[in-house]
Amino acid sequence: MAQLNVILLGPPGAGKGTQAERIRDEFGLPHVSTGDMLREAVAKGTSLGLEAKGYMDAGDLVPDEVVIGIVVERLDEPDCKNGFLLDGFPRSLVQAQELDKALAASGRKIELALAMSVDDEELVQRLTGRRLCRECARPYHTVFKQPAAEDICDECGGELYQRSDDTEETVRNRLRVYRSETEPLIEYYQARGVLARIDGVGHPDEIYKRIADRLIETRDREE
Ligand code: AP5
Repeated sequence: MAQLNVILLGPPGAGKGTQAERIRDEFGLPHVSTGDMLREAVAKGTSLGLEAKGYMDAGDLVPDEVVIGIVVERLDEPDCKNGFLLDGFPRSLVQAQELDKALAASGRKIELALAMSVDDEELVQRLTGRRLCRECARPYHTVFKQPAAEDICDECGGELYQRSDDTEETVRNRLRVYRSETEPLIEYYQARGVLARIDGVGHPDEIYKRIADRLIETRDREE
């Protein structure tokens, strides 16, 4: 069976988590989010979490060597054998190079990098209004995606909360870090012939359709 190894690239708030949920459900790809993995470690108070927390609260990147290790381990799990959806990784050139090396060692490669774009003022508005479910991490928004009952997740009934790095000051730093460290990866994947640019503005259903078209095209080509 053909593999579908996919990266979701894009600035904070571009809608990576929102789209990843649907891609996971409809394409059966495991959703591997470094942000979710790190937040879980922080919540559990593990040594990884203690190391990561300061960087995350400031909106800076957690050191490459810490993040690369957890991703490589995760991609070696059996559910990632036929494909995966990486969200929030890689975020630096070193991470992209190490990912390529680790995948090559098991005869795999990245088949598609989806680069979502949204302008900065909309990103700030999306992130400062975002609320997340404490139980299932599903994203909501105070204006764009309200739950049926205030502060309660529609899917699992969990309580909604605001991420500590979703304040305007931290969001603006996350955007600066994205432009300097992560945006250059668009060229990296373009040079490898696997880049697809996705306009991230519009209704989430329309954006999903743009993404699904590229996923189907890639899957058909790989088969
Ligand atoms: P991470 O958790 O990866 O955060 P991020 O990349 O900043 O992205 P977000 O989760 O904030 O946004 P998203 O694109 O998923 O948007 P969402 O769908 O939620 O990383 C957090 C931190 O962890 C980093 O700052 C860093 O410290 C550390 N980290 C993680 N990975 C790392 C790595 N590889 N290396 C080093 N450090 C790492 O949508 C946002 C909001 O907009 C929601 O409210 C949603 O409802 C709404 N929305 C979504 N789509 C639309 C739409 N089309 N129209 C209107 N509203 C929309």
